[in-house]
Amino acid sequence: MIRTVFWENDSVRMIDQKALPHAEKVLTFKDYRKVAGAIRDLTVRGAPAIGVAAALGIALGALKSPAKNKTQLKADFNRICKEFSRTRPTARNLFWAIERMKKHFSGLLEDREIDPAALRWALVEEAVRIGEEDIEANRRMGQFGKKFVPDNAGVLTHCNAGALATAGYGTALGVLRAAWESGKRFHVFADETRPVLQGARLTCWELMREKIPATLITDNMAGFLMNQGRVKAVFVGADRIAANGDAANKIGTYSLAVLAKENKVPFYIAAPFSTIDLSLRSGKDIPIEMRPDEEVTGLNKARTAPAGVGVFNPAFDVTPNRYITAIITDRGVAKKPFSRSLKKLSDK
Ligand code: MRU
Repeated sequence: MIRTVFWENDSVRMIDQKALPHAEKVLTFKDYRKVAGAIRDLTVRGAPAIGVAAALGIALGALKSPAKNKTQLKADFNRICKEFSRTRPTARNLFWAIERMKKHFSGLLEDREIDPAALRWALVEEAVRIGEEDIEANRRMGQFGKKFVPDNAGVLTHCNAGALATAGYGTALGVLRAAWESGKRFHVFADETRPVLQGARLTCWELMREKIPATLITDNMAGFLMNQGRVKAVFVGADRIAANGDAANKIGTYSLAVLAKENKVPFYIAAPFSTIDLSLRSGKDIPIEMRPDEEVTGLNKARTAPAGVGVFNPAFDVTPNRYITAIITDRGVAKKPFSRSLKKLSDK
């Protein structure tokens, strides 16, 4: 199994996703600031993986903090949490993981007898648990979602919502994995996903490792394929889902959803509850990260556009709920109206 980000020997370890598919490197981090940097520069990416990396990074920061007493440790902990909250703005899982670590820390502080060393290790245990629970959530999503995967047909995915985007197994690719493990046979068209090529570099790498048939396409080919009847369903992940079901995901997802509707192809989102933000009424309230111009003006450091050209580079877009057939979560499948179905699942 691919382990994307995990705790080992008092360090945070992660696959270097910037090096894939050319090199399979596992990096070791002993300084929480470097973990925050790895989230910022996409060494680790994908909403659930970002959340797990942040939780582990916070635990690492607390473990290595020079604080001599609980008051000092609390000040350090809060400062570290703030640093992680500034890494990437869109992935709900990041803020969910930080909130969970904070809640755990406050709970631990209620025990007046607890010493700083025990506090530090309890934070490590909680962060490890967040990672383990993420994998379990993905497996549950796989079981809920596999019935939607057509047998002997083509399906399409965008970006990477696989093991690499989570602690392991994946969300949208987890659903495809579960369907494959249950004996269904299908073919995956993977959008290359400009500008950072998560589809070409990461999704294709994952699918080829699992021997699930995959064909790489550029993003602008999806409509033609759908129009030819060669795509029977679309499966993507999400970075943040509002209470009404509007879903932010990698830039280009919205265009795909519109194309899917036009071609009568069902459009599924797979995401754990840690991605769902019931505090936001609609997708209009989701903060969208803007990324550096260089991601668009070049490819692998080779310039593809004239120097000085203006660039627009949002990392995500929002798909309005009307284009979404169903949202596959770790608590069950939400259907329209999503405001009601998501609320019902959240009360479970
Ligand atoms: O910029 P990235 O690579 O972090 O964007 C990732 C995506 O948009 C994924 O589709 C999303 O996080 C869901 S992954 C389970």
